[in-house]
This record gives sequence, C-alpha cells and structure tokens, in this order.
Amino acid sequence: MPSHDVLVIGGGLAGQRAALAAAEQGASVGIMSKVHPVRSHSNAAQGGINAALNPEDSWESHAFDTVKGSDYLGDQDAIEIMCREAPAEIIHLEHLGVTFHRNEDGKLGTRAFGGASAARTYYVADITGQAILHVLYEQLLKNDQVYRYEEYFVTNLMQDDDGHVAGCVARNMRDGSMDVFAAKTVILATGGNGQAFNPTTNALICTGDGIALAYRLGATLMDMEMVQYHPTTLQGNGHLITEGARGEGAQLYNANGERFMEKYAPNKMELASRDVVSRAEQTEINEGRGFPDGTVALDITVVPKKRIHEALREIVMIGRDFAGVDITREPIHIKPGNHYTMGGIKTDVDGLTNIPGLYAAGETACVSVHGGNRLGANSLLDTLIFGRRSGEHAARHAKEMAMPEPDYAFLKQEEDGLQEIIRRERTGRRVSEIKADIGRALDKYAAVFRDEEGLRQAQEIVQRLKEEAKTAAIDDKGTVFNQDLFGAMELGFLLDNAECIVAAAIERKESRGAQFRTDFPERNDDEWLKHIDLQVDGDGPPKVSYSEVTMTQWEPEERKY
Ligand code: FUM
Repeated sequence: MPSHDVLVIGGGLAGQRAALAAAEQGASVGIMSKVHPVRSHSNAAQGGINAALNPEDSWESHAFDTVKGSDYLGDQDAIEIMCREAPAEIIHLEHLGVTFHRNEDGKLGTRAFGGASAARTYYVADITGQAILHVLYEQLLKNDQVYRYEEYFVTNLMQDDDGHVAGCVARNMRDGSMDVFAAKTVILATGGNGQAFNPTTNALICTGDGIALAYRLGATLMDMEMVQYHPTTLQGNGHLITEGARGEGAQLYNANGERFMEKYAPNKMELASRDVVSRAEQTEINEGRGFPDGTVALDITVVPKKRIHEALREIVMIGRDFAGVDITREPIHIKPGNHYTMGGIKTDVDGLTNIPGLYAAGETACVSVHGGNRLGANSLLDTLIFGRRSGEHAARHAKEMAMPEPDYAFLKQEEDGLQEIIRRERTGRRVSEIKADIGRALDKYAAVFRDEEGLRQAQEIVQRLKEEAKTAAIDDKGTVFNQDLFGAMELGFLLDNAECIVAAAIERKESRGAQFRTDFPERNDDEWLKHIDLQVDGDGPPKVSYSEVTMTQWEPEERKY
C-alpha cells in the first residue's frame, strides 16, 4: 500500500513547488496528477511573474498594488508575505535554470503589467509558466524522495475517525486499477474551475476537482463569486492573448476606431486592472460600439515587429492558427473571457485549511491574495510562494503524525461508485451536453456583469443539471484511459463549483472587483467588506457565513486607474 508523509494532489507549479519544499524538509512525498505534470495548466501562463526585485521598486509598492487590485478584499497579511518573499523566489528559479529574459545590460529584464505602479513582471517571452514548469519538473525527476503518480485520477479524500485527513483513493488512468494512498498530510493543488464557463482560457483539465473534493469533506470555500474575466481572449475558443501584449504597448479600439480606455482609466489606459478593462470592453460591446462578432480590437502592430517576435512569439502563432490573423500586421478581435478562479479553498498563510492535515495551494486555494481581482502575473507567484509554504508546513506537521491505516472499506465504496457510473444504461443526457449547459449558463449569467434575476436563473439551471447528472450515461466501459468515466466524475466537481459560484454571487449584494452587480452597482464597504465563506450542507445549497478581511496597513480607498 503506497503511503507518504505528504501527498500532493496536482502536478502544476503549486504542486511541484510544494512537493520539492516538503522533500527538502526530509518528508517522503507523493505527487499525483491526472495528467503528466508538464501538461498541467500552469503551462498556459504566458505573461510572467511579479516581484519587486529592482532597487527602485519595493515590496510595499507591490503589496499596495495588489491590495488595490483586489478591491480591498485581499487579506493584507497574506499579500505582504507574498510580495516580501517574491524576489528570493525569482532568484531561486533563476538559479535552478529558468531562462528569464535579460535586458541589454545582461540583467533580468521586466515588462509592465496591469494594475502595477512599476514594471515588475519577469518573463520568458510569452511562455513563462511553461518555462518554470519544465525546470521544476527536472528538479522532481532528480529528487528520489518524491514519488510521482502520473495519470492518476483522485476520486475522493479520506479522513480518520478524528477528522484528520488520511490520504485519498485514486484510479490509475492507464489500467483502471484503484488503490488507497495513505498520507499523514495532503496538499491540494489541482488548479481552478474555469471549465465551469464556456468559453474559457483554461485547459480541459481545470474542472475544480480539489475545490469540490475539499468542499465535500467539510472544508470552507471562500470568495467563490470572484471569477476573473481576462480582457483579451479570442471569441469562440477562449484562447488567451497575453496581457504582456498590452505591457509591450498594444492598444484597444472599438469599432469606431476610438481608443476607448481613455474614458474608463485615463491614467493607466490598457494597463488598468483586469476587472476594469474587461468591464470597459463589455460596455463598449453592449452599447453597440463593438464589432458584429461581439468583440473589440487589440492592436499589437504598434509594437515593433522585432520585439513581437522576441517577446510575444506564442501569440503570433495563436493569432495565426486560431484566428487567422497576423498580429504583426493587423489588429486582432478579442473579448473578455473566463480566466481565473480567485476564490477557492480557504487557507491560512501556510496553506492549512479547516480540515486537520489538509492543505491547499495555488488556484485551488483562497489564501486570499487576490480578493476581488487578481493582478496579472501574481498567479504564478501565488503558486510558488504558497506552494512552498504549504510543502514546508505539511512536512513539519507530518513529523508529529503516525501513518494512517489504509481504509479498504472506503476503497471498495469508491470502486462501487465508479462501477455504478460505468453500468448505467443510457436513459439520460450525455455528460458533455450537461457540461456545455453549465458553461453556457455561467458565461451568460455569472460573467462580467451580473444581476439577481440572471443569477437566480443560473441557480435553477445548475440545480436541474445536478439532477440530470445523476442519470448521465457513458459509452466507454473500458479500463484504459476511460476519459468518458473521468468526464462524469469531473462533471460532478464542476456542478459543485458552479453551485458555489452562483450562491456566493447572489449573496454579495454590491459591486467589488470582478463581481459587478448591475442591481447593486456600488462598492459597499459598510456591509460587504468581508469574505463570503461557504460550507457543504448535506445535499442542499451551501451554508453561508462571513469572515473578516485582514487589514494591516492599507485602508480602503476609492479605486481609480
Ligand atoms: O495575460 C497573461 O499573460 C496572463 C497572466 C496571468 O493570468 O497572470
């Protein structure tokens, strides 16, 4: 029976960083991922990673930008930690071999990013996530204290009689065998829930697995209403066109040829924070100044060609392959699209949840450093800082624990649950049809602009889909890479995520960050400067409570860019 001091679930940047940090503390570590780790969604992070490394910059400035960006919902103690620890993390990555861009003086060079008062985004062209992911994976490969379970799908988490986490049950995707994995501590690092929206920039694997698994176990979820729409995504397929393009000088125009950001954010223009730019674009589109395909234009041709090919080469290919546009010669049509889960499993600054021994890090978690709106290039930073902190803390905690006994009855229950799905006769709809309905409903009713009526419709749709999911049949009855079966499991995760997103969005009766309620268009600090916490309540809607936002040195102010 496999057993580990620390079991990390999720093989992206947060998971890999956590695994390496735990191993450095002497823990025996397992890292489990439903895809090969270098295919994790961290791979898709294009623009860069923030740190105030330059002597003219300061961690305080980075922290203030992050607090302001969060619309004052971010917890300032966590933000301080992230921004203070950022420079050392960049240097650490550099020493491991990440080929960050260097400027003409041969020093690490930066680019500007949205909502930041200094150019503090370090990058590798527009493949920064991929570059870091591969370097960390090399570190995992050479570390014999870390055992890799690649292409294992976790069906459930285990707890002991005292409620301490005790490991998980997972299915080997290659051959269909299932096993129980005992662990003294578990770190969830399974990424966000972007697939609850359609379109999205998120990979197909981003189905909110960790969020749902933790929620079912009784973990508190926080700020689930805060869903980031990225300002520059392709119509229809949701592909990301990096904010790095605007950092390099690209401009936004409506169909009348007006550089409309002048109206919405005269100081920062295209580099206002993402919620502001996305709302500006959507307003232009809704008020009839967009293009007939429901977009506005991003003009990258103002960036010198040589620089585009040096710094934005990935989006040259994305433009060509997915929109038929040569971005060096003509503007590309873009729109706001689902991008990032700012809420998630509530943790402290060491990644610990309210379930003893259960940690979360990265997009799965809500520490909360992003609050109502994440700044671009703070996500890679979040994965690494809180991945490392979770790994270190979990390893220390594991030293005090005895290895839990494997729960074979629980394994049998999980096997039976999967067999029930496999044996189902086709009476209901397909998993893919139900999933598409979730995506359509959330993109319609829980996007850049929201109101009570729309959110109630979304709630009704999600409830109906939850019922339909109970009879959704699958065609593949096999054991080898049965993606049909995993799709059915993921559908359940997505429905839990969708239910929580909508419940929290209904609950928050104000506009803050990414949550813009047209029926409550103002920010209301008197009543809503607080986190919304959700917990599972049997089969019913989530139980709502509130928690305080941690303030250290920055009082809420009006947010202008
Ligand atoms: O636009 C981007 O490159 C995305 C970066 C991020 O979400 O941090």
